[in-house]
Amino acid sequence: MRRFIHSSLCLLKKMKGKTPAEQRWLQRQLRDPYVKASHALNFRCRSAFKLLEIDDKFRVLQPGYSVVDCGAAPGAWSQVAVQRVNSAGTDSELPCGTVVGIDLLHIPPLDGAHFLSNHDVADPATHAKVLELLPSGQAHIILSDMAPNASGFRDMDHEKLITLCLTLIDLAGKILQPGGSLVCKYWDGILTQKLQQKLSSVFGSVRTLKPNASRKDSAEKYFLARMYRKPIKS
Ligand SMILES: C[S@@+](CC[C@H](N)C(=O)[O-])C[C@H]1O[C@@H](n2cnc3c(N)ncnc32)[C@H](O)[C@@H]1O
Repeated sequence: MRRFIHSSLCLLKKMKGKTPAEQRWLQRQLRDPYVKASHALNFRCRSAFKLLEIDDKFRVLQPGYSVVDCGAAPGAWSQVAVQRVNSAGTDSELPCGTVVGIDLLHIPPLDGAHFLSNHDVADPATHAKVLELLPSGQAHIILSDMAPNASGFRDMDHEKLITLCLTLIDLAGKILQPGGSLVCKYWDGILTQKLQQKLSSVFGSVRTLKPNASRKDSAEKYFLARMYRKPIKS
């Protein structure tokens, strides 16, 4: 009972001065089991569980792998990647991987990861820096949980994110090793098929994923593209 009263008082304190929309968001956060679990496991945000689920099922991250994490802030996917590819060298028996994270925003430092804060994934100058940070200039996998600032206009936001996802195909051409993989978030809509076709033209397999940790009411989905075939330059 004391615990209930304490948490109710905390909630009331947090709600004070908030708009109705902010109150709804706060209530949803407080009820969300993934938010609670991310605090308990020291993940920077709940999205860690989406990547953990994808990796538990498809084993896309292996010790020793080089990973490029696009849209990495605040860094939860990079935390998962660091653990799974052993880039902090935590297990001396396993090969040590590399994690490079990129974001338009600041990404707080993380042991085992190189971060390019305030960098645009779509900018060729960023691609050149990523190349320098990767061993032999090659990545085993590109991850993208990127999302533009949502305008609230569903079709417009969908198109913006698909455009961003398409830039990942250029990035793959520069850094992804043959046989490599790409995991990318998109918001479902009329251009989904176009993105899927473009991915299928350079990857041997492309599947759609909706992890349990992804909110049911969100248009968010992921493509897992595997077996990269480097296009032959003409
Ligand atoms: C949903 S958050 C990513 C959360 C992250 N996966 C994690 O687990 O901490 C989406 C991020 O994409 C970033 N982003 C959007 N457009 C970008 C771009 N063109 N280049 C780099 N980052 C971008 C945003 O700044 C934002 O931080």
